[in-house]
Amino acid sequence: VGQTAALDRCSAPLDATLQLLWTRGMDTSPAPQQARPPWPALLCLLLVSTGGSGSCPAVCDCTSQPRAVLCDHRRLEAVPGGLPLDTELLDLSGNRLWGLQRGMLSRLGLLRELDLSHNQLSTLEPGAFHGLQSLLTLRLQGNRLRIVGPGVFSGLSSLTLLDLRLNQIVLFLDGAFGELGSLQRLEVGDNHLVFVAPGAFAGLTKLSALSLERCNLSTVPGPALAQLPALAALRLRDLDIERLPPGALRGLGQLRELEIHHWPSLEVLEPGSLAGLNLSSLAITRCNLSSVPLQALHHLNFLRVLDLSQNPISAIPARGLSPLVRLQELRLSGACLTSIAAHAFHGLTAFHLLDVADNALQTLEETAFHSPDKLVTLRLSGNPLTCDCRLLWLLRLRRRLDFGTSPPACAGPQHVQGKSLREFSDILPPGHFTCKPALIRKSGPRWVIAEEGGQAVFSCSGDGDPAPTVSWMRPRGAWLGRAGRVRVLEDGTLEIRSVQLRDRGAYVCVVSNVAGNDSLRTWLEVIQVDPPNGTLSDSNITMPGIPGPFFLDSRGVAMVLAVGFLPFLTSVTLCFGLIALWSKSKGRVKHHVAFEFVAPRPSGDKNSGGNRVTAKLF
Ligand SMILES: *[C@@H]1O[C@H](CO)[C@@H](O)[C@H](O)[C@H]1NC(C)=O
Ligand SMILES: *[C@@H]1O[C@H](CO)[C@@H](O)[C@H](O)[C@H]1NC(C)=O
Ligand SMILES: *[C@@H]1O[C@H](CO)[C@@H](O)[C@H](O)[C@H]1NC(C)=O
Ligand SMILES: *[C@@H]1O[C@H](CO)[C@@H](O)[C@H](O)[C@H]1NC(C)=O
Ligand SMILES: *[C@@H]1O[C@H](CO)[C@@H](O)[C@H](O)[C@H]1NC(C)=O
Ligand SMILES: *[C@@H]1O[C@H](CO)[C@@H](O)[C@H](O)[C@H]1NC(C)=O
Repeated sequence: VGQTAALDRCSAPLDATLQLLWTRGMDTSPAPQQARPPWPALLCLLLVSTGGSGSCPAVCDCTSQPRAVLCDHRRLEAVPGGLPLDTELLDLSGNRLWGLQRGMLSRLGLLRELDLSHNQLSTLEPGAFHGLQSLLTLRLQGNRLRIVGPGVFSGLSSLTLLDLRLNQIVLFLDGAFGELGSLQRLEVGDNHLVFVAPGAFAGLTKLSALSLERCNLSTVPGPALAQLPALAALRLRDLDIERLPPGALRGLGQLRELEIHHWPSLEVLEPGSLAGLNLSSLAITRCNLSSVPLQALHHLNFLRVLDLSQNPISAIPARGLSPLVRLQELRLSGACLTSIAAHAFHGLTAFHLLDVADNALQTLEETAFHSPDKLVTLRLSGNPLTCDCRLLWLLRLRRRLDFGTSPPACAGPQHVQGKSLREFSDILPPGHFTCKPALIRKSGPRWVIAEEGGQAVFSCSGDGDPAPTVSWMRPRGAWLGRAGRVRVLEDGTLEIRSVQLRDRGAYVCVVSNVAGNDSLRTWLEVIQVDPPNGTLSDSNITMPGIPGPFFLDSRGVAMVLAVGFLPFLTSVTLCFGLIALWSKSKGRVKHHVAFEFVAPRPSGDKNSGGNRVTAKLF
């Protein structure tokens, strides 16, 4: 009787029932955990007495272990009648079901899995799943549901997985999932969701994983999520959300895993965005972050895995990740990294995986790691690496490290171009993996004289391999920065504007690279300029462009007096007269007239630039 067939063709004419049951009896017997009926006849009696089940709807296939009724892709427009009452799995996917009325399935009290995916269901009446108290899995993806109202899922007290993806749901109303006290996983992606009511997830006390993806949400539904006390994993993918406001996820104290993937308009993660969370895994991938959001992360001291791949991040700063004391893995592939600072992973004693494949790194120095010997996995392929002395440590560890599918390769210098790190032998030919210490190549004058208020420039540059950095310091040890009155320009030039007397003294240019440093001492001499006498020496000059009416204040009067009142008035009158005459013939014209006055200098005064007065009239 076809003992080996797992799938019984059971178009169930009544005279075959006994035979069928016999088959089932034989089928169940090899299963050790199942209670063995003494003889098939008893089983027959038992089954018949429990309600005439055992038949299989003509259009479906049935299996006996588990008791499954498979009616997928049969062009059904309604749930077929005569379903065996002990059905455990009912597959109605890929049909044309358009509605599900209350009580339709209520007699299937043993049903554990119900697949209604890819039908045309647009409404579910409240109580549609009434009586399915054993149901664990309910698949409704790929239908046309628009609204999930309260009470639809009532009675599903054992449900652990609910899949609602690929519908047209716009709203989740308060209490939509009210009675799903056992639900652990909820999939609601690919809907038109624009709003999730604050009480929509109320009652989902066991929900541990939630995915919200490809919806039309424009904000994170924080209040609704806060109703999920057991949520451990939250995935928010492919959303057009611009920001995660501070405290948006507060209340998710049990959350361990957060994934934010492909939010193209997320440019910064504000400090406090992740407040209240205690994550062990965080992924913010394919967004538009331009820096590692250190401020938002610093309190996550149980974080083990951080993934910031595919963001336009260009640097990992020194010591920035130190607060993440338990961090083990950092993934930052496909970003725009050009540098990983020395001590970038300072304080991370358990750090063992770094994935920075496909970036723009020229090197990765050993000093970046707290304990390079603990490193197990390093993905570094797809970077334009310069194989000089800075990568010697990597060469040393190349056999032990897991480089993934493709080991890193040298992009330079030329004689090793394209060679993978694994191809080098232990004894390196001369000139391989070497550096040349930095040396000062040329500099401008070492002694510069500048007037008070003037400008002084010192140039300095160096040679070396790798190309050295140029920095400047005062002999007392203060390094000079890139901004301010005294600053170091991009090309290494030191520029001092509005020279003051106290700027006088030595300046040291230091060129350095990983192999060594070189320095040069220069001197600035400042010439004191006597401030010009009189009211005009006042340095508070009304700058053009500062808004406000023009008044002839004491300084203005002094200015006019200095020029001479009569010449001033005469020229102004003449000018306006001419303009008036000219504009009469031209029609309406707007006029801007600027006057520039250079006050007479006291004799002996040099061109110090300190008393030039410009006033803009109209
Ligand atoms: C959701 O977004 C898609 C694509 O952007 C659009 O076609 C659809 O109309 C939107 N739905 C709602 C309800 O806004
Ligand atoms: C990403 O951010 C940059 C500015 O930081 C902006 O110019 C660009 O348009 C953004 N990209 C997207 C897809 O929003
Ligand atoms: C944070 O989570 C870890 C487990 O990842 C747990 O051991 C720790 O107690 C939690 N801390 C707080 C403050 O909840
Ligand atoms: C320059 O190199 C010497 C050792 O050669 C070192 O002691 C010194 O700290 C270095 N100075 C700078 C500014 O790097
Ligand atoms: C400026 O004024 C002081 C007195 O107030 C005078 O001694 C000095 O000679 C003056 N300097 C010039 C350049 O006129
Ligand atoms: C110059 O301006 C500063 C503030 O801009 C003010 O404190 C100072 O008193 C002004 N000096 C004179 C002589 O007006």
